[in-house]
Amino acid sequence: MLIKKPSDISPSEITPRETYRDRRRFMQQMAGLGLGGVLMGATGTAVAGYGGKPLNFTPSTKYRVDEKPTPYEDVTTYNNFYEFGTDKASPARRAHTLEPRPWSVVVEGACAKPGRYDLEEILKPHPLEERIYRFRCVEGWSMVIPWVGFPLGDMLKRFEPTAAAKYVVFETLYDPEQFPNQRGRVLDWPYLEGLRMDEAMHPLSLMVVGLYGEVLPNQNGAPMRLMVPWKYGFKSIKSIAKIRFVEEMPTSTWMRANSREYGFYSNVNPRVDHPRWSQQSERRIGEWGRRKTLMFNGYGDEVAHLYSGMDLRKFF
Ligand code: MTE
Repeated sequence: MLIKKPSDISPSEITPRETYRDRRRFMQQMAGLGLGGVLMGATGTAVAGYGGKPLNFTPSTKYRVDEKPTPYEDVTTYNNFYEFGTDKASPARRAHTLEPRPWSVVVEGACAKPGRYDLEEILKPHPLEERIYRFRCVEGWSMVIPWVGFPLGDMLKRFEPTAAAKYVVFETLYDPEQFPNQRGRVLDWPYLEGLRMDEAMHPLSLMVVGLYGEVLPNQNGAPMRLMVPWKYGFKSIKSIAKIRFVEEMPTSTWMRANSREYGFYSNVNPRVDHPRWSQQSERRIGEWGRRKTLMFNGYGDEVAHLYSGMDLRKFF
């Protein structure tokens, strides 16, 4: 399988920086008008490359919130990526050490097709689409982001999970050379997250490879990260290198760090406060004041049935 290394990418494949900027400005305007990607061509698949390289995708008509997308600069400079530091500015400053190509993903556990897959092989069958999702961080801020990706469930199905697969676990690559803060002990590395299988197979769960029409910048979780828009942002694990199908509910990194504050489900829920702060409102990055936080981050019509009969105070 051919994996493009930086030296294999011909100069003609690399768009000059000014063109990126113009394109980005254009994409921001288009996304604002709900037209993101219309002029970008028909369906396409991911290309090898680095943050900023244009992607081919189809804008989703179904999954686009009618709210103004957060500016690109904020989406890519105000980040949580503890592998590069615990403050918001460190990921954009330090994530140049991450090499998103070549990249492979290990698939293991309760499935018929375990193995080590290279990223191109994983991405190839999946047409990309742009979806504009609300994104709510557990810390009380939010954004609206035009992601480019494909349904997580479509990818998971290809590994043929067995009946024993009740949950799926994701792990970020462990490599302190690329992720320098993994040398410290601020979290238990590698970063680990999980979903119940029905959550993972839900059509809203997105495997993300880009934003604003371009390849995902390193600080946003290159080359591939999760986006589960009805859950707090920390469920959306970045730079995924391992996928494991399991029978028992896994303990995520944040549950391990503080199980009183972070549960497995972590559905956005304004009625259940974080032990140290209220979750009733949020600050939309780029706006003044606060807005009310919506149950399931506004995706209740689509996902509330997944939790019918569950006490969401207990299973927070
Ligand atoms: N994934 C890894 N590997 N490491 C992290 O520190 N932070 C999480 C999540 N995924 C994190 C991660 C948190 S707390 C949030 S809010 C989102 O990524 C932030 O995503 P963004 O920087 O693209 O906005």
